[in-house]
Amino acid sequence: CIETSGKILQSPCGPIIHGLEDVLVKTTSITDIDGDRGILWIRGYRVEELAAHGSYEEVAYLILRGRLPNRRELQEFSERLKASRELSPAAVEVLRSLAKAHPMFALEAAVAAEGAFDEDNLKLAEALRAGRYKEEEKALAVKVAEKLVAKIPTMIAYHYRFSRGLELVRPRHDLSHAANFLYMMFGREPDPLAVRGIDLYLILHSDHEVPASTFTALVVASTLSDMYSAVAAAVGALKGPLHGGANEAAVKSYLQIGDPSKAKEVVEAATKPGGPKLMGVGHRVYKAYDPRAKIFREFSQEYVKKFGDPQKLYAIAEAIEREVLSSPYFQQRRLYPNVDFWSGIAFYYMGVPYEYFTPIFAASRVVGWVAHILEYWENNRIFRPRACYMGPHDVPYVPIDQRS
Ligand code: ACO
Repeated sequence: CIETSGKILQSPCGPIIHGLEDVLVKTTSITDIDGDRGILWIRGYRVEELAAHGSYEEVAYLILRGRLPNRRELQEFSERLKASRELSPAAVEVLRSLAKAHPMFALEAAVAAEGAFDEDNLKLAEALRAGRYKEEEKALAVKVAEKLVAKIPTMIAYHYRFSRGLELVRPRHDLSHAANFLYMMFGREPDPLAVRGIDLYLILHSDHEVPASTFTALVVASTLSDMYSAVAAAVGALKGPLHGGANEAAVKSYLQIGDPSKAKEVVEAATKPGGPKLMGVGHRVYKAYDPRAKIFREFSQEYVKKFGDPQKLYAIAEAIEREVLSSPYFQQRRLYPNVDFWSGIAFYYMGVPYEYFTPIFAASRVVGWVAHILEYWENNRIFRPRACYMGPHDVPYVPIDQRS
């Protein structure tokens, strides 16, 4: 294949849109991004508005139902989430047996295990296969979606406890989604600023149109598999360092860099042909400063102001950002810090080990994944692209003993 531009490959069968860049796969009324101006709208609201005034529960309701809840609706929704936080014994066993694995592997497996025993999930999948997706099934789909939102934080916290040989901490019904997550993980009353940080992070990552993980969820859902399997597959896609894994990679790189004075050298190395990419910089859609990065930058600053920056993570990130914003290489390519550049710093200082950063991303994005699935099922069609075959045809079969 000949690459004619960054995104089109010429093949004997016709042009190939490399990485499906800018290919439209569905309509949506969930999220819109203006990548040139760095604006993100969720159900029409600017993300800055939601981050300043909302809670994750409010935003999750908005994403799932298309409008902000009133006080009673929010209360009922929060109660439903609280009631669904516990896991099936199968999922707990999976998390226990994968205690030594990276939590994203454990999360992927635990989501699949939970889905195998969720009667509503199985009933919904059966209805979809029978061609039924009317009001009753749609209500059931929202119920399954809400359960996924409720359970993922528990899976992450339980894995953390198993991985460290600690007793499990059961969910607490008087705590919000974010506060309960921190409580289950660390087993103590969480600091209010840490709760705010987790809540903010959950809001900022709740949906982002159709990145690789959401597309993966849609591909699986389009086969009428089941909602948990679609989410398990999305977790697998999110794990990669080019997607959700970048927040973990960014903090690891700050720890490795060790001092802000090295920022120039590090940024310069990333501009060399074949040099290492700067983690948390660049975005397929944003060709301007990521609005979520700006919010988390401010939060990280507030956090280190209160709790200090003993590892100089904020100072290092700030120095790298300064170099990136003045580097012709990054500016010509319109590469700016993305949300992952800033998001791991406060987590690190909260005591969240960096391998749990991407799972927390999943705990947020799950609502976007399931909302896109619900939207797609309104007019489902299996995804089945084509590939241009470039190999030989009619090759004669040689028995194994006669092969050289
Ligand atoms: N550091 C150095 N150079 C970069 C970086 C980076 N972080 N990102 C892109 N570039 C360069 C590429 O080398 C390429 O240069 P060239 O034109 O000389 O070949 C050019 O910028 C275009 O980059 P692509 O990789 O083609 O851009 P694409 O849209 O395919 O990739 C991506 C976007 C994957 C996010 C990329 O910028 C990257 O790898 N960033 C680092 C990982 C990261 O932060 N991922 C998080 C994404 S956001 C999220 O998932 C929440």
